[in-house]
Amino acid sequence: MTAMLDAADVEQVIGRLLSDMAATAGLQMIRLGVRTGLWQALADGAALTPAELAERAGIAEAYAREWLKHQAVSGYVDHDPATQRFTLPAAVAAVLADDTQSAMVDGFAGMLAAMAKDHILVEDAYRSGYGVGWHQRSAEHWLGMDLVTRAEVVPALVSAWIPALDGVEDRLRGGATVADIGCGYGAALIALAEAYPRSRFIGFDYHDGSIASARKAAAAAGVADRVTFEVADAAAFGGAGYDLVLFVDALHDLGDPVGALRRTREALAPDGTALLVEFAVADRLEDNANPLGRLLYASSALVCSPNAIAHGATDPLGSAPGEARLTEVATAAGFGRVHRVDVDAPLNLLLELRP
Ligand SMILES: C[S@@+](CC[C@H](N)C(=O)[O-])C[C@H]1O[C@@H](n2cnc3c(N)ncnc32)[C@H](O)[C@@H]1O
Repeated sequence: MTAMLDAADVEQVIGRLLSDMAATAGLQMIRLGVRTGLWQALADGAALTPAELAERAGIAEAYAREWLKHQAVSGYVDHDPATQRFTLPAAVAAVLADDTQSAMVDGFAGMLAAMAKDHILVEDAYRSGYGVGWHQRSAEHWLGMDLVTRAEVVPALVSAWIPALDGVEDRLRGGATVADIGCGYGAALIALAEAYPRSRFIGFDYHDGSIASARKAAAAAGVADRVTFEVADAAAFGGAGYDLVLFVDALHDLGDPVGALRRTREALAPDGTALLVEFAVADRLEDNANPLGRLLYASSALVCSPNAIAHGATDPLGSAPGEARLTEVATAAGFGRVHRVDVDAPLNLLLELRP
């Protein structure tokens, strides 16, 4: 067996592993730059020495030097060997010195750090076959999710996604009732409450810690009179006659997604709408061999599927179900119309469901 191995193939595998280890370490370095203002300090494109960067960012010179060396060999910062100065290319500044994009990177990096911290829970679950609920995760995971939602979902939800739904925006302007299932820290509903002051909003999540944080966030935003949050399982949330029911990056986490959509159909007004926000992936595994696919299948195996299993799933949807599988689930729950919303959102897949 060993004799038949091609040494070059083995070298390639080792190279790939090394590259994955470097990427894992590199993400921490990128996040460090976001959180300590190093990217912002380089954002004007000036060619800086480590001492000058340290002065601008208010950190020790030794740390600025080590951080710059890493970013230079990683290709995020240009290094001039003649002057020993470092420059941030404009394209990198556009991503990493931008508040929204850097918040998204910070959020994802926080969740990935929490996944590493919570690894033993998942390792035990793989051995026992039991699940790991969202409530068992480190707080950094919940916070990271909230950051990603605020950066990646909220701006588009308000400015483009709601207007792209059939007749929904007019109802929200006039005064509608909206539910968000698996609402987490409530960022989506709070943003909608700010945009549509005549409407009322209620978020549901089984995790009491998230519901407590969502209530605090609504009070801090001054919308707690119109946005409330309740602890409830997705398949048994309360209320009726909703004009809109949202699932933002949450349906695939559920133990019983068909049950949750059945309950949604029952709780909608006769001409109400449900909106599923999921990641934009291809239907077939073999078509998802790309960085987004890698990230999502890892999140699925480490977080979303363990949560679904903790809630009774034996065949969880996983973080990358794709349009065809989601349509099957919606149809099994009795929805008669499932329509992919045409929006310019490379990372997101939006499905509009009508009873
Ligand atoms: C990936 S997070 C998304 C949170 C939020 N929608 C956002 O976009 O920030 C998934 C959420 O679903 C919630 N969840 C998981 N299983 C649930 C269940 N069976 N019933 C209600 N909520 C559930 C989790 O507690 C978590 O807040």
